[in-house]
Parts: sequence; structure tokens; C-alpha cells
Amino acid sequence: MKLTNMLDNATFRLLSENKMPDKDNSINGSSDTHRVATTGDLEVSTYLEIAQEREGTSSNAPAFPEPVRMPEAIAVVDFGSQYSRLIARRIREQNVYCELISPKASREAISNLNLKGIILSGGPSSVYEDNAPMAQPWVFDMGVPVLGICYGMQLIAHQLGGEVAPATEREYGFAVIHKNNPSTLFENLDEELAVWMSHGDRISNLPPGFNSIAYSENSPVAAMANDSNIFGIQFHPEVVHTPQGTEVLRNFAYKICNIAGDWTPGNFVSETIERIKKQVGKGKVICALSGGVDSAVTAKLVHEAIGDQLTCIFVNNGLLRREEPERVRQVFQDSLGLNLIYVDAEERFLTALAGIADPEEKRKTIGAEFINIFEEQAGSLGSVDFLAQGTLYPDVIESQTSESTAAHKIKTHHNVGGLPERMKLKLVEPLRYLFKDEVRLAGAELGLPSTILNRQPFPGPGLAIRVIGDVTFAKLEALRAADWIVMDEIKNDRLYENLWQSFAVLTDTRTVGVMGDQRTYQHVVALRAVTSDDAMTADWARLPYDTLARISNRIVNEVPSVNRVVYDITSKPPGTIEWE
Ligand code: XMP
Repeated sequence: MKLTNMLDNATFRLLSENKMPDKDNSINGSSDTHRVATTGDLEVSTYLEIAQEREGTSSNAPAFPEPVRMPEAIAVVDFGSQYSRLIARRIREQNVYCELISPKASREAISNLNLKGIILSGGPSSVYEDNAPMAQPWVFDMGVPVLGICYGMQLIAHQLGGEVAPATEREYGFAVIHKNNPSTLFENLDEELAVWMSHGDRISNLPPGFNSIAYSENSPVAAMANDSNIFGIQFHPEVVHTPQGTEVLRNFAYKICNIAGDWTPGNFVSETIERIKKQVGKGKVICALSGGVDSAVTAKLVHEAIGDQLTCIFVNNGLLRREEPERVRQVFQDSLGLNLIYVDAEERFLTALAGIADPEEKRKTIGAEFINIFEEQAGSLGSVDFLAQGTLYPDVIESQTSESTAAHKIKTHHNVGGLPERMKLKLVEPLRYLFKDEVRLAGAELGLPSTILNRQPFPGPGLAIRVIGDVTFAKLEALRAADWIVMDEIKNDRLYENLWQSFAVLTDTRTVGVMGDQRTYQHVVALRAVTSDDAMTADWARLPYDTLARISNRIVNEVPSVNRVVYDITSKPPGTIEWE
């Protein structure tokens, strides 16, 4: 019963985890390159980065000093599994710091880590293929425990003298493994475990010194261990399909690596504040607020560290949702007491966007105008030393490994100008060690309101890419009214936090309707609500009919220029979340 419940609860997240494409055929490679898996926060920071690069002031060097005391860490060597990041997140959820590192990373490259354990991830290769990535010698001679998962396990077998062969039957999906030798890795777990398998190869001969510690119907060696704390498991403990997977990872971290578990939001916040003080000294910092969680937590951390040496800039581009500019002002200026420059640039953006219907042109125009305004405002502050921005750990990983990053894609689509020569800004990036969910925890620790912390992602170009065709004030107002109703009903029905995004789109289609005795010819609003883990894939949300009915009735009755509401039932891929 318990197992079934856990599986049911997990179904929501599983769908998207399962659907994540392998790196090789990543949907990132799609020709539709304007699509970026990001939110307005990254969009804004990318504008600023582009501007700095133009002036030759940007640097890829770590923008934030290493902590004085490095937390105890587990390194995940990433062999290309779609789940590598998930492993890191699961480990961090256990209050253990974890970094993803490349299989090519040298001994020196990891010397800054306070390394207590190593996990070798899964991956798409077979160990006996030419050019299959191998584990570096330091993995086995550092003297810290090693856990190989799937391909990682096969590597251990292959590199330590065992044999790996193609399995007669590929094992994919749920399986049951049976413990057959006691091991700390499975301590306090059931004798039989439901696990998630995804492999074509298997261990045909154990390496010397290893014992099987579990078997499944198709894998005589579903898990193995030696006396030197090297372990291999054929299944994926990181996915929710393996209900006791977290316990396996926890046993590895706490019972085998003997980690104390000091990676907590409280420690992160206090240590980060110290580091910001050290980095900034008496310098002046500016920070662009987007209204989203990343820039909010960044600003709050910096403010806690250096108080009024920080000035935040918030540009109201007129493309925001109803009451959003007021809310940002209220939270940051009135409640949090930050120095806030509020720029009402609604008219400038609308003038710049007039007559533009092409989605890419809209994005470019908005990016360019944002930079112009930010430059003017920052310039008026006199000398500024630092730019604080909410770069997250996934952005850092991607910028180290790939050109197809969200930031890169935004850059290729915004041809914008440069910050003035005199502003040679250094970066303060306090979130560069955090995943998104950790940002929220840090924000909660800092006392930020849940309206900011749990806000659904909102794109940098705002409502401009939800008004199909050219953007006018009247259309924006109609969309704001429709969007307000969507939010109201979704929140009333307590659906908001279960949805990745839910919003209205004002289409440029008009249809005939009838209201009272009048024939109408007005706009169609499309409703979009999706579930997702990371915006790379998404599924349309099965909203209750009653919610849909209330939203539709209210929009048609309350928004004068709209007479029809449709629901978008397209998943991503092949659709995208936004319509433009
Ligand atoms: P798509 O529509 O590509 O969106 O499935 C994936 C995620 O990214 C957001 N998005 C953007 N964010 N600038 C942004 O800052 C953009 O140009 C942009 N386009 C899409 C979208 O809201 C979703 O969360």
C-alpha cells in the first residue's frame, strides 16, 4: 500500500523526468532556436552580460570567491546520463553539497572540493565501444568511497578487471531486486526493492575482490561492492520510480562517506553573506530586478551583506501582468527597504514595439531597449563596481559544457549595444552554486514572501510574446484582464503551485459570437497550463472541467474584446510552452 502511494504521488514528476531527452538527441538541438528554457531572470542578466562583452569587460572566471570553509562534498562524474543533474539534486536534498564534474576533469581540477565521495553517473555509451568515456585514475586512488550507477557501475567492473557484456534482454522500467549479501548501502532497506532500470549491458564477470549484493531476474549482478567502499548499482536510485532510492543515496553519503550534512539553507545564507562582504568591501553594487525569484534572492543576500551599497533597478516595460510593478515596488522598496530605482518605461517600450509582429523582432527590440534604459540609470549613479545577478548552478554547468545554453541562445537573438566604457563591472553571483529549488529554500530562510518565491516562471519579453501579432496598449490591457482571471481561478482552486505555468494568450484570430441579441466578432483567448520539471519538456495540465468553465465564463463576460476561450492541449515537444 505504502509503495503504491509513493508511486502515485510521484507520477506527476516522473512523466517529465522520463521524457527528458538524452544529451545526444537533445531538443536543444532543434532549429527553433529562439526557445530558451529560462525565465526572465536569466534573460535580464544575459542582456547585461552581452552589453559587458561588447566592452570587453566580461569574464568567465568564477565571479564569486570560494567559500572560506568548503562544505563536505560528493562529486558526480557526469558520463552523459539524462539523470546526472537529478543525482546531484537528490544528494543536495540530503543536505550534502554535490557538484557535477566532467569525466575529463583532472585531479587538480577537483582539488578545491572537500571531497568525501564520488558517484559515477549513467550514460549512453557502452564500456567496450571505442572512445567510451572512462573514469580517471584519481577516482579509484583518492581513497574516498565510489558509487557507480548503471554505466558508472559497468565502468567500475570494466576498469577494475571484471567483464561487461550486452544483456540478452534489455532491462528497461520497473524491476525488483533481491538483496543477497549484507551491505551498508542497503542498510535498513527492504529485502526486495522496487527499482527503475534502464540498461542494455550487464556485468558478466565481477572484478576481483567484488561481491554481488543484489540480483534481479535479468541481472545476476544488480549491485556489487568490495571491501574498499567501491559500490556499483545497475538501477537508478535518483528517479522517483525507485521508491527507496533516496535511502540508498543517503546511506552512501552518511553511512559510507561519513558526511556530517552541513549543506543547509541556513549555512548557505550566513556563509554567502560573509563572502559577499569580503568580495565587495566598500564597493557599489547594482542589481536588475525582474520580479522573479532569482534576482529577488540575489538582491536580498547582497542587501543583507552590504546594505545601502546596493542599488536595485526595476524597469517597468509595460509588458508585465496586472499589479506586478506595484507588487515589486511594495515588496522590495517598502517591505525589504532596498534602494530601488523604479523606471516607468511603458511608453518607450510600446513605441519601440509599435507595428512589430515577428516574435524574434519583438525579443530583439525589448532586449535593446532594456539595455538602453539600464545604461542610462546605472550611468546616473556615478561610479559602480559590481553587477549582482542571479546566475544559477545549471547555467554554470551549461556554460562549462555547451554552446547551446539558454544564455547563449538569448545572446544570439538579441543584437544589443554595450554598457558605457567607464562601467567596468565585476560580477557578484551568489547563487552560482544553487539549483532552483535551493534558491527558493534560501529565499525562505531570508524571509522573502511566498508570492515571490513560488511565482511561476515569467518570460523576460513578458506579455509581448503572449499577444500574437503586433502589440498595442489595448491588446495588453485585454490580455492583462484575461490573465488576471486565469490566475485568480487557478489560485482559488489551489492549482497554482502544482503547475509550471498557467496563463492566457491573446490570439490574433477573431471569431463570431452572440451576446444577448448582439452578434459579436472578437478575439479568441487561448488558455495554456502546463506541468513540467524544467521547461525542457512539458505536458498540458489536465485542469478540472469546473475550473476551465469558470475561467471561460469569466473571460468572455469580463473582458470586452474577447468572445471565445480555447484550451491548448499540446505537449512540449512538439509544442512550446509560450506561443511565440
Ligand atoms: P518555451 O516557450 O520555449 O519556453 O517552451 C520555455 C520556458 O522559457 C520561457 N521563455 C522565455 N523566457 N525569454 C525568457 O526569459 C524568452 O524569450 C522566453 N521564451 C520562453 C517560457 O516562459 C518557459 O518557462
